[in-house]
Formats: sequence, structure tokens, C-alpha cells
Amino acid sequence: MEYQIPQIKEVADLLKKRLDELQNKKDILKSIELKALFDQLKILEPDQRANFGRELNNLKNELSAIASGSQDELEEKPAIDISAPFDVNSKHSERAKLLPSEFGSEHPLTKELNKILDITNRMGFESKESREIDDDYHMFGSLNFPLGHPARDDYDTFLTDQKDKNDQPFIAPAHTSTMQNRILKELKPNLDKGEPIACVIPGRVFRNEDLDARHEHTFYQLEGVYVDEGINTGHLIATLKTMLEGYYEKELEVKVQPFYFPFTEPSFEFSLSCPFCQKKGCHICSYSGWIELLGCGMIHPNVLREAGIDVNKYSGFAWGSGIERLVMMKHGIEDVRYFESARLDFLRML
Ligand code: DAH
Repeated sequence: MEYQIPQIKEVADLLKKRLDELQNKKDILKSIELKALFDQLKILEPDQRANFGRELNNLKNELSAIASGSQDELEEKPAIDISAPFDVNSKHSERAKLLPSEFGSEHPLTKELNKILDITNRMGFESKESREIDDDYHMFGSLNFPLGHPARDDYDTFLTDQKDKNDQPFIAPAHTSTMQNRILKELKPNLDKGEPIACVIPGRVFRNEDLDARHEHTFYQLEGVYVDEGINTGHLIATLKTMLEGYYEKELEVKVQPFYFPFTEPSFEFSLSCPFCQKKGCHICSYSGWIELLGCGMIHPNVLREAGIDVNKYSGFAWGSGIERLVMMKHGIEDVRYFESARLDFLRML
């Protein structure tokens, strides 16, 4: 606020400066300078008194607003709990009160993933975790996407400024297929022992997406890889049907349609009969009776070769499915964004 009367302006500047140093800001209203101005008001000539009085009141109100404002701000802040985060060596009774664990629960996605892993493990698949940062070779090169191949554009994701030893940025993986080369190499000794490579790989993946009820920038996938002698498309379809019937706890019809992925040949889009309407048509399946659920195919010989597997002897299949999608289908969840939303009503739903 601007003050016209020099005397009031001088005191205003002085007291505002002093406010900074005062512990109890309200003490400013008791300052002798302010009191002196009020004393002076009493002895002023009537023609000066009105103006002087108005400005003096403004000053008092301004100081009082500053004083009570900063006072409230302090009062609003909770006392600092100096024991949190607690020292693990301190006595239990002296530690900060944490949220009791009975209020916590597993995330619905974790619960459902564990059910799916239970099924695949019983079917003979071991499980290994994916990773949240990877490189160009595992994201593309090892999966038969040559440099500059247009299919790379389908996997637009987040890159780091930092470069790897080949001067390529690190990549937040856009799919769990990044793990295929590692898994094939790691489990290749199984084949030498006459056993299959059978592994599922759950993991968090990232995409540069426009967000809506069906698209998230961060979601989870379950990759599956199976390699042995004499493996064909029939094994792929039967395996996925068995896994999905286990999860949805009912018999399902399935169908495959041709699709394109650089890392499988042939490639398929795998659909199942809508578990909600038994193919009659409902809003979940957009009245088609079928749900397109995941991508899959026979592992491309170039991918097997890249991992040092003899393609004249062995063949295999692979699939990648969005885990949220599987869970949404099972529980009729209509918006994928709930999973990352931290909404308590959603988190407690399953
Ligand atoms: N990685 C593919 C995607 O995210 C899905 C996929 C398709 C995975 C075919 C596979 C596969 O393992 O064989 O779009």
C-alpha cells in the first residue's frame, strides 16, 4: 500500500522492515512509533485529521493483516515430527507412528498377476522378471527390427539423454519382448538336456501414448516364450487357450487372425470369445462377441539364430499380453487409468 503523508510513509517503511525480525509479528501493533502517530491524530486540526486518520487506519490494517497472515501460516503447519524417518536403532515406543500395516493391501494388479503366474507355473513355465531400462539391441536389434525399419515406429517410447557404448540412448522398454534374447540365451542349456525353454516374463512397459480409457503410458505385460523340437502353431493356440481358461475359470472359444510383428513368423492377433456375453454381443466386446486380447506367433528364425539356437532343430512360439487388459476383461473394469490412479475404492475392489 502507498502512503501519501510523509510521516506515515516513513513509519510504514520502518515497521515493515522490523516485522521481519519480530518473533511474534503481532507485537508490531504495539510499537511506539504507531502509538505516537495515533497520539498525533488527536491534536491535529480538523481539516487534516480526516486524511491523516484514513491513512493511519490503513497502515494499522495492513500491519495487522501481515502479522496475522504470517502467524496463521505458522499455526497451520503441523509440528515437525523430528523422529521421522525413524532411526531403526531407536526403541519401538520412541518411533514415529506409521500407518498400521492392516490398512495396506496388495495392488489388484499384483494379486491378479500372481494368479496368472500360478497358472503358467503349473503349466511348466518358469517366470523371470523383465527390466525397466534397456538398450536398442534388446528393444529392436535382437528382435529382427533392422536399423531404420518402419515397424520401430509402432513402439514409440521414452529415451534417455545418456548414451550406451554404441552411442544409442537407453530405452524405457515398450514391450517385454526385450527379454526374449536374454531368456533364450540363458535357458539354451535346457535344449541341450532335452528339455524345452518355457518361460513367462512379467514386466512394466512404457509407451508414448495419448491417454484414454484404453491407453496408458505405463502398463504391464506378460511375455511368454516356448522353444523345443517340433513346436508348431497348434501348441501356441492350445497353450494360450489353457492359460486363459484357467484365468477366466470357464471354457472359451479362441481364434487367431494374421498380423505382423518383425519377431514372429507367422504372427497372429489372438482373440477369445467374450467371457461376459458368451458371444451374444455386449458393450465390453463392442457387440462383436470377440475380444482381441494379445499378440503372438512362431518365433522368427532370425531371433532364434541371434540367440545361438539351431533353427534346423528347434522352433518355438511367443506371446505378449497386456496384463491390465486381461484383468479388465475378467472384472469388467472400464478404464485402464484406474490402475495407476491410487484411488482407494478401486484398490480395495478386488
Ligand atoms: N511385443 C508385442 C507388443 O507389445 C506383443 C507380442 C507379439 C509379443 C508377438 C510376442 C509375440 O512375444 O510373439 O505389441
